Amino acid sequence: MTVTRRQALRLFGLGAAVAVSGASGCSLLGGTPQPRLLPSTAPLPAPFTVPLPLPEVARPYRSDGTTDHYELVQRAAELEILPGLRTPVWGYGGSFPGPTIEARSGRRTVVRVSNGLGVPTVTHLHGGRTPPESDGYPTDLVRPGSRRDYAFPLDQRAATLWYHDHRMDYTGQQVWRGLAGFFLVGDDEEEALPLPRGERDVPLMICDRSFAEDGSMPYPGFADRPGVREPYMGGVLGDVILVNGAPWPELRVERARYRLRLLNGSNARPYELSLSTGGAVVQIGSDGGLLTAPRELRRIRLAPGERADVVVDFSAYRVGDLVELRNLADEGPQGRVMRFAVDRDARDDSAIPKTLSRIERLDPAKAAATRDFAFTSGSLHGGVGWLINGHPFDAARTEARPKLGDTEIWRLTSDVAHPVHLHLAHFQVLTVNGERPAGPPEWKDTVELREAQIVEIITRFTGYRGRYVMHCHNLEHEDMAMMANFEVV
Ligand code: C2O
Ligand code: CU
Ligand code: CU
Repeated sequence: MTVTRRQALRLFGLGAAVAVSGASGCSLLGGTPQPRLLPSTAPLPAPFTVPLPLPEVARPYRSDGTTDHYELVQRAAELEILPGLRTPVWGYGGSFPGPTIEARSGRRTVVRVSNGLGVPTVTHLHGGRTPPESDGYPTDLVRPGSRRDYAFPLDQRAATLWYHDHRMDYTGQQVWRGLAGFFLVGDDEEEALPLPRGERDVPLMICDRSFAEDGSMPYPGFADRPGVREPYMGGVLGDVILVNGAPWPELRVERARYRLRLLNGSNARPYELSLSTGGAVVQIGSDGGLLTAPRELRRIRLAPGERADVVVDFSAYRVGDLVELRNLADEGPQGRVMRFAVDRDARDDSAIPKTLSRIERLDPAKAAATRDFAFTSGSLHGGVGWLINGHPFDAARTEARPKLGDTEIWRLTSDVAHPVHLHLAHFQVLTVNGERPAGPPEWKDTVELREAQIVEIITRFTGYRGRYVMHCHNLEHEDMAMMANFEVV
């Protein structure tokens, strides 16, 4: 069945008057808040003047036959993000991004998070297949001065994951202040491939922020009340694009292949990444790890929370060439991301194999249930909020109870754009507006619903029983209640 835009709108009862508002990408619903730019008042640096930082790699404080133990202390720090200014951040280990954890599939990783901040926190491993008690449920608070051990069995494939704050009603604000880092899972299958590694395997956390004159990163929220302040209900957009915490940085590269692990760590900003040369990038991985085969692309769209592993071959360029990574979804400064300066010749033994991995295609005929989830705006505490199936997030309410081991189809519908994320269950996209995506299946944990779309995903609930959340990964939508419980029974 192909679902038209008009049918999609009718599904959640929006009238024909709305349906004519057009395919042009302009606001669909007059009253529905859209993401909004928070302008900086600090002087901003010229692009490509700051070198790309690489987050420090965390070292376990103890390792034994089965387990690596890490400790991350959340604390306030002042960092020089804009040249010459001091920016207060909240960071894991006092850094932004936090330290990168390099973990191994099948080895238990225990992360002790100690809260040295003045506010409660929750830490979630995004993309982790984690038992519920360590999954960072939004009300499992770690209070100031206390700590919690999060245990990750990592019974899952190699993939680029990330950890970030998940405190109910305050996630947008706490991530904005710096509480996010990479968590890379490796495995034997991936290690056997001749992909670029070492210094040529570079994690890139892309996120936008805005800066006040004194260098601080103000967030339009409340000190004493949850959520985000009007008119930023639709999402907070920064006007400075940071990569690994640096504004529009530059990386000097050799004439060789590089693996770039792209993560959209923004609160609300989607990117359409593309090289200024028009050259191809080769995607090798997605949220849930390797694709079955490499995919040559000229642009990659990443909504908040999504990842793409790509290989760029800089031997296609000459020494002295400058290759910009651009964001075609915007113009001006926000249309720029970072720059690669091709610096020197080098030996390169890497290659991109024609076959990367195998992925079982989940069979819709075997689905035990099909469920509907409508992502819409609606009224919340007398104002506007974001709802799933008409309900704001309520820890006491469970929207779905899939059985452990069952395959299910979840049909997601949107009003405006919503990047939808499921904890625990990696999924495959079955249809988008009734059409099957071309090509082999891939594993995702976040999928962007564009405006007035119907996306069907298929997943199998394996791993653990218990209570998990699914939510919109526009963090302002999430904080304004666009989250629901599901319980694997
Ligand atoms: Cu990246 Cu529930 O979050
Ligand atoms: Cu998650
Ligand atoms: Cu949303």
